[in-house]
Amino acid sequence: MIKKHYEFSFWVRVTHWVRAITIVVLTFTGFYIAIPFIAPALNQGEPNNYLYALMRSWHIIFGFLLIAVTIGKFYLFIFDKQSQIERVSFLDFINPKVWVKQIKYYMLIGKHARLKGVYNPLQFVAYLGVYITLIVICVTGLILHMHVYHEGLGGFLFEFLRPLEVMIGSLAMVREIHHIAMWFFIVFLPIHIYLAIFNSIYGKSGAMDSIVSGYKWEEEH
Ligand code: HEM
Repeated sequence: MIKKHYEFSFWVRVTHWVRAITIVVLTFTGFYIAIPFIAPALNQGEPNNYLYALMRSWHIIFGFLLIAVTIGKFYLFIFDKQSQIERVSFLDFINPKVWVKQIKYYMLIGKHARLKGVYNPLQFVAYLGVYITLIVICVTGLILHMHVYHEGLGGFLFEFLRPLEVMIGSLAMVREIHHIAMWFFIVFLPIHIYLAIFNSIYGKSGAMDSIVSGYKWEEEH
């Protein structure tokens, strides 16, 4: 029998969608910072309408929002009771049998692996990559930020992040790493959306719903 099953808590869903929106906005504005692809409308008083400055300010506002929500998600992953199901996924990740079953499923020659947690091993690796990239992009973003805003938070961070910048080699290299990390998301997002739809429809689980309503449909064992 197929039964409704509560999977993602309210705050897990909120952090997912806030991150999704911030990553899209940051990719758009970040790309503009790298290659200004829109020409500002002509204006006599302010010849370039400060379009670049506007993109930078939205980039930094959404950048800090992403940092806040990423810290929140780390908190949930470690302490939230409902997120136990995410933590348990580690057991599936270290189980070779689940790996083989899951790969067969994606090759359309087997059934979906029965999981202890909520993520299959391939998903687990992909999401681990997302978190590592989030840390890289947030820390490099903060290094870029502290070189422009020397007071307050910028000045405070300088003490801690300057040694890291020196280890990386140069500010130009920090910017390059920040830029390359963006491409991880550009590649990840379409694959993530495709596989979520695939699992939801081919797997008849309605898995897409779980990140909206919190519920998905599963066979009772
Ligand atoms: C998904 C997240 C993010 C993406 C895709 C992204 C993308 C980018 C890109 C492509 C650039 C231009 C680099 C270049 O010139 O090649 C940039 C610059 C920058 N980013 Fe991000 N970024 C993200 C997150 C952040 C965060 C969390 C912060 C922290 C506040 C941040 C702060 C900055 C700053 C300060 C600059 C430099 C602006 C300038 O040089 O005028 N970014 N970002």
